[in-house]
Amino acid sequence: MQLQVDLNENSYPIHIEADSLNQLNTLLSDLPDKTAIITNQTIADLYLEQVKSQLQHTELTIILIPDSETSKSLHEFERIMAELLAQGFNRSSLLIALGGGVVGDLTGFVAACLHRGCRFVQIPTTLLAQVDSSVGGKTGINHSIGKNLIGAFYQPEAVIIDTNTLKTLDTRQFSAGMAEVIKYGYIDEASFIPWLQKNKAALKALEPKALQHTIHFCCNLKASVVAADEKERGMRMLLNYGHTFGHAIEQVAGYGEWLHGEAVAVGMLMAATMAKQQGFIAEDLASTLREIIIYFDLPTQVAPSMSAAKLTSAMLKDKKNLEQTLRLILPKALGHSAIYNWQDLNYIQNLWCEFGASKSG
Ligand SMILES: NC(=O)c1ccc[n+]([C@@H]2O[C@H](COP(=O)([O-])OP(=O)(O)OC[C@H]3O[C@@H](n4cnc5c(N)ncnc54)[C@H](O)[C@@H]3O)[C@@H](O)[C@H]2O)c1
Repeated sequence: MQLQVDLNENSYPIHIEADSLNQLNTLLSDLPDKTAIITNQTIADLYLEQVKSQLQHTELTIILIPDSETSKSLHEFERIMAELLAQGFNRSSLLIALGGGVVGDLTGFVAACLHRGCRFVQIPTTLLAQVDSSVGGKTGINHSIGKNLIGAFYQPEAVIIDTNTLKTLDTRQFSAGMAEVIKYGYIDEASFIPWLQKNKAALKALEPKALQHTIHFCCNLKASVVAADEKERGMRMLLNYGHTFGHAIEQVAGYGEWLHGEAVAVGMLMAATMAKQQGFIAEDLASTLREIIIYFDLPTQVAPSMSAAKLTSAMLKDKKNLEQTLRLILPKALGHSAIYNWQDLNYIQNLWCEFGASKSG
């Protein structure tokens, strides 16, 4: 199965197969003199030999980063950059990100900056990376002030997805990826959520056809949104459904405590609840979302140790806001969401309390 992200001279293919890693020698036939695979030890133990055996006639460098969100740091960026420069990597060299969103975001940012841009391929191995982070060219690292605050839009030249890699992913990570899948169903294409309700057991059991259908749906939707709005000036913001709330949870809890998708799941529910309370959507739309989130073992609220005031002020740091106005994505109907500017911060604070946060603190 193949898709194309249409961005004129930056267009690129997305391959989705059950056995793509064994086809790399044909999918990546045009290798330069120097190629680096950037990954971590967990993924290297599982897939590095298989990938290496497919890449011939290129000088291979392997760079391992710590297996943690904290790798998306200036420190790791500098360390990788120093190694690549010392080894003479140039603009025509290739960086391969083999791993989840952490490896992909960091590697992409290094690729964007190395000599102002070198070749870059994504081989995503988590569900979240396969349906979301590997497609669209958002790359970057975190800062103590906030997540993903340093970065660049930089498109890969190909995304190669092997759905078999999901067999080794732990179930908590799979569920976190499902949050992004569910997100796509709410922002566009009304037929996906009914399909998901029918096929949820097959998906949870990692049946190849269900996985391929799901990943294809998500990548196709993301590809069309990115093609229409590469630099996130309008429509692409819809992909942030649940994310303004979710990023606040991740930041207040401390990076790494919550998985990104877990935070997004609570965020989507909060946005749906808000839309219901404002009369934009009917009760059943929010309750279907809750049922799906629970089925995929995702959380539905935050811990009482989290303060509603801190969560609200963390939301104000979101890059998409306009000064003291939050820009929220709220559902309007199944498969249809819109951007709302929101100023009533008391309402938001009370909403956090409805979702388990404490009033004080
Ligand atoms: N660039 C974007 O558009 C975008 C979009 C969404 C999220 N993100 C970013 O993605 C990151 C989260 O990515 P993630 O959820 O993939 O987490 P991750 O990269 O941390 O991977 C999760 C865990 O799974 C392990 N792993 C990866 N593949 C595996 C496999 N096949 N088998 C067994 N273990 C495997 C990893 O080693 C890690 O421990 C966050 O930093 C988030 O900000 C970026």
